[in-house]
Amino acid sequence: MTPEQTGHAVRRELCNRILVVTVDNPPVNALGANVRRQLRDAIQAAEKDPDVDAVLLVGAGRNFIGGADIREFGKPPLPPSLPEVCNTIEACRKPVVAAIHGAALGGGLEVALAAHFRIALGAARLGLPEVTLGLLPGAGGTQRAPRLVGAKAALDLMLSGRHVGAKEAHALGLVDLVGETDDVLAEGLAYVQALLDAQAPVRRTRDADGLADRAASRAAIEAARAESSKKSHGLFSPLKIVDAVQAALELPFDDGLRHERQLFLQCLDSPQRAGLIHAFLAEREVLKAPETRNAKPRKIASVGVVGGGTMGAGIAVAVLDAGLPVTMIERDDVSLARGLAHIEKVYDNLIAKGRMTPEAKAAVLARWNGSTSYDALGTADLVIEAVFEEMTVKHAVFAKLDRVCKPGAVLATNTSYLDIDAIAASVSRPGDVVGLHFFSPANIMKLLEVVVPAQVSADVVATAFDLAKKLRKVPVRAGVCDGFIGNRVLAIYRAAADHMMEDGASPYQIDRAVRAFGFPMGPFQVADLAGGDIGWATRKRRAATRDPQQRYVQIADRICERGWFGQKTGRGYYVYADGARTGKPDPEVESIIDAERERAGVTPRAFSDEEIMRRYMAAMINEGANVVHQRIALRPLDVDVTFLYGYGFPRHRGGPMQYADTVGLDKVLADIREFAQQDPVFWQPSPLIVDLVERGATLASLNHAA
Ligand code: 3HC
Ligand code: NAI
Repeated sequence: MTPEQTGHAVRRELCNRILVVTVDNPPVNALGANVRRQLRDAIQAAEKDPDVDAVLLVGAGRNFIGGADIREFGKPPLPPSLPEVCNTIEACRKPVVAAIHGAALGGGLEVALAAHFRIALGAARLGLPEVTLGLLPGAGGTQRAPRLVGAKAALDLMLSGRHVGAKEAHALGLVDLVGETDDVLAEGLAYVQALLDAQAPVRRTRDADGLADRAASRAAIEAARAESSKKSHGLFSPLKIVDAVQAALELPFDDGLRHERQLFLQCLDSPQRAGLIHAFLAEREVLKAPETRNAKPRKIASVGVVGGGTMGAGIAVAVLDAGLPVTMIERDDVSLARGLAHIEKVYDNLIAKGRMTPEAKAAVLARWNGSTSYDALGTADLVIEAVFEEMTVKHAVFAKLDRVCKPGAVLATNTSYLDIDAIAASVSRPGDVVGLHFFSPANIMKLLEVVVPAQVSADVVATAFDLAKKLRKVPVRAGVCDGFIGNRVLAIYRAAADHMMEDGASPYQIDRAVRAFGFPMGPFQVADLAGGDIGWATRKRRAATRDPQQRYVQIADRICERGWFGQKTGRGYYVYADGARTGKPDPEVESIIDAERERAGVTPRAFSDEEIMRRYMAAMINEGANVVHQRIALRPLDVDVTFLYGYGFPRHRGGPMQYADTVGLDKVLADIREFAQQDPVFWQPSPLIVDLVERGATLASLNHAA
């Protein structure tokens, strides 16, 4: 192979009259302006060069091409555009072949679709995931994919955003050949040579006949439109994708491309695109905590879990699912058996749904062992405590862990609210103590708050992040305070919801408004799901220390006093007839609320859904800003990721901090000041918001400051 030209982001090398064009733009060969320009130049050069018979497109490193450069979106566009590059590739009069290994996603797959032939290696992942970023395939994908694989399959790919492997891609007709080895260059060159030997003519996707059956295509488009209208929950891009495919069916190719461009630009301009791309980047940014940059994680080959209740069992399942062995400690044999039963129930449900075999369950449970003696934890590399939320109980457990655990073992607590600095201070090795705050159900919920006490060593924090990766959780670094990031902010917006309920909004109206905003559930539905008794116990515990100036709404207490703890008792804010999971509004609850309003001397007033959301979000944003201000969260994006993964915050809004910037921080501050006129104790503007508004800055400006 003779190197012909070494470019910066795209290399060209001539190999037996085949021009190998390698996209080399780490980490994922995204199609930034440099790549686009050099790719176009390479094709144009190949076209002109009499020594070149064909072009082979490959990616350097682990992927073909990960897509358009999403960091360029929202900035002034730089030429050439990706559609232009794809058109240049397709128009080339010499055969262009894409050899795909790793990811060929979004614009990456569009480049491959513009090539004349495609080969994929076994481990390739192909897809058009633009919908997950609030976009549609905007470089010809909506026009070429349906022509190549038919409207139905193309719509499925574009609306689900799912990745397909090489075999499925081949079965769909997305690629022509599946390579047999993992040597992308050798496979690609051999394929090009075979095509040249066979004198295969250039074959352009724009001329493919996947839409020839017009009736079937139309039916697929209508079905996708109906399904998307029903399921896309206010998302903007899915219906635009359907429109673009309709254009592919109805318009000549070039007109279809122009139509796709217009729809793409509409998506690009939408705040949903900004929110979804923020979420994508933020969930990668949270991994870069200072400790993960500066320290090496300790080795974790075995895990202990203390407590086999709701959380202990869920955590054990998460750890078992990651392939690690678990030793569970309980108070007595009965509790231990109950802990194991909790675990088995999770797997039995999977078996009942046909998603697991009894043999697979047995294999997983072979990694579990239980004991009532802490001595069984002597060899564990990491122990997670999930016993009752009582400081005395936590201290007793940690004293035992301190005694039995080997030096270097990480000692973690799953406490929700307790002071982890105090727990750490109670043992002889505070540097090994860290908070691992899982969310219920722990085997399902993605969020893991890694709570970092003052004395913890950096490698213990790095180990926590490493464990999160093994458990496929999204870790967010949090400082020690009452409720860390998530529950601390939750307490505030929950209080705002309670205030509105007492002031005149029904819990059902509030839940409806919150759902309409995009949350899967409203706060009162969440309370019913979690069980009212837990919050009630906490409120009673804190009654003595509560600030008497602070407004305290007693409606929840009145409901709990009746034994109505939500779904598990068949009644809470809603009634759940015969074990139903969806509740119905309860007139008796409304009477309780009326009585409480009277007792509190409140004359109820009407709330619009819009005001409900302004108050709800202002409370969430204000406390989120306080959490950043006090360095409990490193950056606003850590608050965002916490809410996206732990609290059902609608992803297309990017998280509360991103949403605040979208609304305008000055508007949020004006709201808070307006609400403070009635309740200055509750509505105190966060100093961070005041400062940012004074400087005309955004919360996002702090995201790269840490
Ligand atoms: N543009 C810019 N940066 C990207 C990127 C992209 N398309 N895709 C990934 N990156 C960055 C990540 O932000 C991360 O940066 P960091 O190291 O600074 O945090 C780095 O690349 C590595 O990413 P991952 O950690 O995700 O790497 P993995 O190896 O786990 O996964 C991947 C690789 C499967 C390619 C994954 O990154 C991915 O899914 N990327 C997005 C794919 C996508 O959505 N493409 C469509 C883009 S929109 C488009 O193409 C529009 C077109 O139709 C016009
Ligand atoms: P739970 O009451 O369901 O389970 C606690 C378990 O700990 C019981 O099975 C009990 O027998 C066992 N236990 C008590 N003392 C023990 C000891 N000394 N040694 C061994 N086992 C002991 O409680 P849950 O809900 O699982 O909570 C556990 C911890 O997780 C608490 O700190 C809680 O704040 C926290 N948490 C709870 C969440 C939830 O949604 N339930 C969410 C996140 C954290």
